[in-house]
Parts: sequence; C-alpha cells; structure tokens
Amino acid sequence: MKKAFLLLAVVLMALPVAVFANGADEDGSIVIGANIYSFADNFMNGVMKPELERYAAEKGAVIEIVDSEGQQAKLNDQIDVFITKGVDVLAINLVDPASASSVIEKAKRAGIPLVLFNKEATEAGVMGTYDKVWYVGTNSAESGIIQGEMMVADWLNNPEWDKNGDGVVQYVMLKGEPGHPDAEARTLESVKAFTRAGIDVEQLALEADPNWSTQHGNDKMQAWLSSSFGDDIELVICNNDGMAFGAINALKTAGVVIPLYGVDALDQALTHIAEGEMNGTVLNDGVNQSRATLDLAINAAQGVDVTEGTIWTIENNETKAVRVPYVPVTPENYQDFR
Ligand code: BGC
Ligand code: CA
Repeated sequence: MKKAFLLLAVVLMALPVAVFANGADEDGSIVIGANIYSFADNFMNGVMKPELERYAAEKGAVIEIVDSEGQQAKLNDQIDVFITKGVDVLAINLVDPASASSVIEKAKRAGIPLVLFNKEATEAGVMGTYDKVWYVGTNSAESGIIQGEMMVADWLNNPEWDKNGDGVVQYVMLKGEPGHPDAEARTLESVKAFTRAGIDVEQLALEADPNWSTQHGNDKMQAWLSSSFGDDIELVICNNDGMAFGAINALKTAGVVIPLYGVDALDQALTHIAEGEMNGTVLNDGVNQSRATLDLAINAAQGVDVTEGTIWTIENNETKAVRVPYVPVTPENYQDFR
C-alpha cells in the first residue's frame, strides 16, 4: 500500500517533465514558460496575466505563468526550471531591466527562443547577443508625452488650478520603479510637456517605489499633505494608476481635491475619472501587449518568422521590439475604454 502510493507520487512528480520533454504537451500544443515580475502589481496581474492566459487558450497553446515575487534571483531559478522541463519558448517579464544579459544567456545556451515583455532591457546591445530574442512593450516616452500634453491642456483651461497664482505648476510625482524605462521616461516627458508649452514647473517632491504600489501612493501622498508644502501642491503626477489609487485615497481621507493623473487606464481608474477623482490617465494596452507577446512566442517556437501572420512589426534590428501604442484617456472619452 505504502509502496504503491510512493510509486504513484513519483510518477505524478515526473509527469510534467515527461510531458514537456517532447517540446510539446500530449496533444502537440506549444508549451510557453512565462512569469510576471510580481503578482502584486495591479497592471501586470490585473491586465496582462489574464489576457496571457485567455489568449494562450484561444491559440491552443499551454502557458505556465509563475510569480517572480520581485526577485531577479528567483526568476533566474524559474527559468532554469522551465529549461529543464523542456518548454518550447520563454515569455519573460524581467524583474530587473538591467539583468537581461543573464536571462538571454540562459535561453541561448538552451537554444530556446525568448520573448521579453513589459520591462525593456537596459544593457546596451544586449538584444544583439542572441538571434532568438525579441521584446514586446511600448514606447515608454510616449506615455509621458501624452500624459504631459493632457495636463498642459487642462492646466490652461483651469486657471484656478494655479492656487498661488505664480504661473508655476507646483507638483509632486510618484515615480515608480527606479531604472525601469517606463518610470524614467514618464518622469522626464510629462514635465517636459509643460516647459515645451512655456509653463514653468516646480517639483515639490518625488518618490520612487520599485513595486509601483497603491500602498506606497497612499503613504507618500498622506505624508506630503501633512508636510510643510502640503497646502502648496497644485498637481499630482502618478506614473501608474496603481500608485494613483493610493494617492486618491489619501486625498479623500484628507478631504482635499488636487488635479491628479495616472498611466495604464485600469478599470478602477475609469471609475475614478467618472467620479471626478482623477483627471486623466493613459491607456497602457496590456491586452495587445499580451497578444503580441504570445503571437511572437508561438511563431518563434514553430521556427517561423516571429511576425508572420500577425498585425505586429519589429521596430528595428537593434531593439527587436514590437511597440504597442498608448492612448490618452480623459473625462471626455473614458467611456470608450470600459
Ligand atoms: C505599468 C506599471 C507597471 C509596470 C511593471 C508599466 O508599464 O505602467 O503599472 O507597474 O509596467 O513593470
Ligand atoms: Ca502655482
């Protein structure tokens, strides 16, 4: 009895390995080994993960998505496991955008194609080190430019937003993850839109958060409101909606209304816009980024040109990137995104 049970356990444990070892599961489907850098991330867990799962099923592929819990070392181990299991292709959301080279090296040594998504590699030239690596994401700067232009237009239409009447925008910024191309580009570009329009800005505070989290947004906004410059804040710039939700909560708790903008266009952001608690956001099209990731991954696993039969184009041979466009979301058009 005991022996039979042990045997069964051994067989069950070996099963996934045996199944993947043929380069496909039982019915010949493509097997994709994937991760999300952290399941605690609103955008990655709420938008990209469900669409990766749904779209994989639609395409008849098998996807396993693991949580890297914000640890690059954990992701490296997870990739080793996927390689041992013999997955056909890897779809990887880097934890550390500066650690792509070790990930690419692993895939290359195993001869498995690799699609990086959402966090673009920051090491120069790294995409050229393997012929079977590609990137799916956005043009990071575009989100900041769109958010910035939206804020400039609203600022000009609402002279009362300049509370102290000095013609200068006193703002606070929730940045997100330092070193993340999206966080870095948004931080620069949104503010540049003001200076381009001839409007001076004054940064009262800026805080980074590797987790882009609601809790952080809440805590920082609360601290800022009760600081010496609390009454001077005229604009809250959030580099993602997750942090914006926290800031909105802190503002509501304090009974204060300050113009506030995010990025991502999560469902909850549309509700905040409807309720006048948020002035705008930028659609980060995670649904299409998920689809592009899998379209490329499945083609790569089949050994055909990655964009074959798809609507995507590769930007150039250096970045090897598919970039999904951002879209402005305002109180005028938010209902189109529900
Ligand atoms: C999103 C953020 C998210 C980050 C994760 C960005 O593109 O706007 O909400 O936290 O990706 O890497
Ligand atoms: Ca002012």
